[in-house]
Amino acid sequence: MHLTPLHPLFAVRIDPPDLAWRPTDAPTAAIHAAMDEHAVAVFPNTRPLDDATHIAFSRLFGPIQRTPVLQLTGKRERLAAPEIIDQSNLDQDGNILPDNDKRLLYKRANQQWHTDMSFHPVRATYSLLSARVIPPRGAETEFADMRAAWAALPEAMKQRCESLEVEHSYWHSRVTAGGPEPDEAERQSRPPARHRLVHRHFGSGRKVLYLASHISGVVGWPRDEGQALIAELMAFATQRQFVYRHEWTVGDVVMWDNLATMHRATPFDDTQFPRDIRRTTVREAEV
Ligand code: OGA
Ligand code: MN
Repeated sequence: MHLTPLHPLFAVRIDPPDLAWRPTDAPTAAIHAAMDEHAVAVFPNTRPLDDATHIAFSRLFGPIQRTPVLQLTGKRERLAAPEIIDQSNLDQDGNILPDNDKRLLYKRANQQWHTDMSFHPVRATYSLLSARVIPPRGAETEFADMRAAWAALPEAMKQRCESLEVEHSYWHSRVTAGGPEPDEAERQSRPPARHRLVHRHFGSGRKVLYLASHISGVVGWPRDEGQALIAELMAFATQRQFVYRHEWTVGDVVMWDNLATMHRATPFDDTQFPRDIRRTTVREAEV
């Protein structure tokens, strides 16, 4: 493999040793080591991976999420494989979703800084996002290095944060992004979860500020005070120097460590242009 750094702090491009290389032959240990160091890896491919290969590649890195965590009431999935999360702006027939469709409104919430599945007790470790169709402009994905952000925090702030626990709720980020209130069945399909605000990243031994737009409050704090602290930390952690911006090429697979980074989608004309991008998610444990 050839590794090319993409940013002074984190993120690396990984090119295969030769053209005959197949993702399922990947040297898993070497990629884990690269991920421990760089936290985001871009794997270019001359052709997009098919779903089966995408799933097989992801499975090299741990238990992968299978049943959809969320079934929006009354909606059929476009893609058959239960391991694939459809992050496109397309309906089950491949047409662009109408502007007021709940699925599109919820997908736009990915434009807030977040990390995947922090709203679940069994969190996501790696996500692998594969680009099938990209729009002519916009829709880059941004990543923030939450180890570097933690290291740069003033000492007094570190002490304030160190022992805090926070609540993460999927619905909190959907609604603050302008999406509709969930119905009761939807709400129950994704109850909130609590996690430490600061943890030690297993692979690198470095401390991480584990933030996400899913955070609804600090446990034991008045709601306003908790949200003010989270807003201040968010602004700090997403300053330019901590951010790598990925401009997609069709075929790219981007893999990131959700326990060391945040990410966000950026806008594009999602009512005019299709964007077909698909995700698999590796989790801390089999559920
Ligand atoms: C995701 C995600 C961002 C994007 O797939 O988890 O947040 O740019 N995607 O599609
Ligand atoms: Mn995401």
